[in-house]
Amino acid sequence: MRMTIFGSGYVGLVTGACMAETGNHVVCVDIDERKIERLNAGEIPIYEPGLDDYIERNVEAGRLEFTTDVEKGVAHGLFQFIAVGTPPDEDGSADLQHVLAVAQSIGEHMNDYRIIIDKSTVPVGTADKVRDRVSAALAKRQLDLEFDVVSNPEFLKEGAAINDFMKPDRIIVGTDNPRTAELLRALYEPFNRNHDRMITMDVRSAELTKYAANAMLATKISFMNEIANLAERMGADIEKVRIGIGSDPRIGYHFIYPGAGFGGSCFPKDVRALAHSAAAAGHPAKLLETVEDVNNRQKHRLFEKMSAHFDGDLKGKTIALWGLAFKPNTDDMREAPSRVLMEALWDAGATVRAYDPEAMDEARRLYPDESKFTLCSSAEEALAGADTLAIVTEWQEFRSPDFDKIRDELATPVIFDGRNLYDPDMVTSLGLTYYAIGRGQSVKGD
Ligand SMILES: NC(=O)c1ccc[n+]([C@@H]2O[C@H](COP(=O)([O-])OP(=O)(O)OC[C@H]3O[C@@H](n4cnc5c(N)ncnc54)[C@H](O)[C@@H]3O)[C@@H](O)[C@H]2O)c1
Repeated sequence: MRMTIFGSGYVGLVTGACMAETGNHVVCVDIDERKIERLNAGEIPIYEPGLDDYIERNVEAGRLEFTTDVEKGVAHGLFQFIAVGTPPDEDGSADLQHVLAVAQSIGEHMNDYRIIIDKSTVPVGTADKVRDRVSAALAKRQLDLEFDVVSNPEFLKEGAAINDFMKPDRIIVGTDNPRTAELLRALYEPFNRNHDRMITMDVRSAELTKYAANAMLATKISFMNEIANLAERMGADIEKVRIGIGSDPRIGYHFIYPGAGFGGSCFPKDVRALAHSAAAAGHPAKLLETVEDVNNRQKHRLFEKMSAHFDGDLKGKTIALWGLAFKPNTDDMREAPSRVLMEALWDAGATVRAYDPEAMDEARRLYPDESKFTLCSSAEEALAGADTLAIVTEWQEFRSPDFDKIRDELATPVIFDGRNLYDPDMVTSLGLTYYAIGRGQSVKGD
């Protein structure tokens, strides 16, 4: 089948590559000329495990191409995917300008029936706006062409995106047109083989399903962080509590890890956007507002612990920082807890020596002129000349470090662990002081 994907970011590139992998002919359109140039030169602009192989293979096979030519994109595919960003507007609502710009382009150039598929995360009612925008552009051209607008939200996780797309938990298709539902079923057939994962529903329910899923996951994290903060004050250990509650199948072990707060391009903005939609619908969503507040507070916990440890004086201190990406296996630093921590440290007069396996270029792009920021080529190098170590991303390579080396390198042998990676007894027995999240009092080394 022929399809066009607008937006060549994390979702658009993965969708394009996976759709091409199953034999479709895919044209990816982006307005970012530099990004398209890089893709056409064989460079992958983001880090996503396995994506490079998929892209290379399918470009070579002639099934995947990249262009800035909107007209060519609209002419190419019966299926027109919208996978552009929906960043937060100033008031927290989802900014739909990119989605509607794509709708406008499709209306301006289509000459035949098109199925417009919204994969971006968008508020309830967006499909109607897309439909209106396409209709208005067609009316201007004095054309009366048939088209459908489908909501097909994406649930992939950065870091495991290829696998999530190839073997999805569910494929949500929101449409009021049974014929379109059947075309989508045929399109998704290769991803739907061992059992039917496609769930069809009306458009508005599909749009809300995506927000509800992300809000539920974000709620789990903020809940655990809330309990972690209680555990700390009450002398309990959140890791034991986590294991204790996860054993209940109604709760389960997934996604109940306490930490330095959730970040990324989805949870924070989606919780905010849903809270905004709720207020606009006349039902202020108190739970969602609190999920966000708890998370914002949590992103400051490591800094607070550091500040308390150094009696409020971090001026002139050098902090080794392991992890910049908002989670492992991605280079994405959107709303990452590392950014809140670093910015607080710089404000307090401290210097940061950071290392991340994949997010170094992104950090360089975000903080090009920050004089109190050094990017180091390894975790070990970040320790050189540092006073103390903070960990904010649970990359595998940080899980079993050489604690003797850490102790000997640091002027003040203290670890501030925002991801509860280590056994406190083991770390302290090696002469380090260890602060983690929700693990009782800070444990002093001897
Ligand atoms: N990143 C994720 O893990 C994830 C997962 C599920 C859903 N989503 C949702 O998918 C959407 C895309 O997210 P992303 O992370 O891929 O975004 P991204 O920022 O990585 O990529 C968006 C791309 O769209 C391009 N673009 C903007 N306007 C355009 C236009 N008019 N025509 C063509 N291209 C245009 C941008 O240049 C950019 O390359 C968002 O709504 C997001 O919430 C993201």
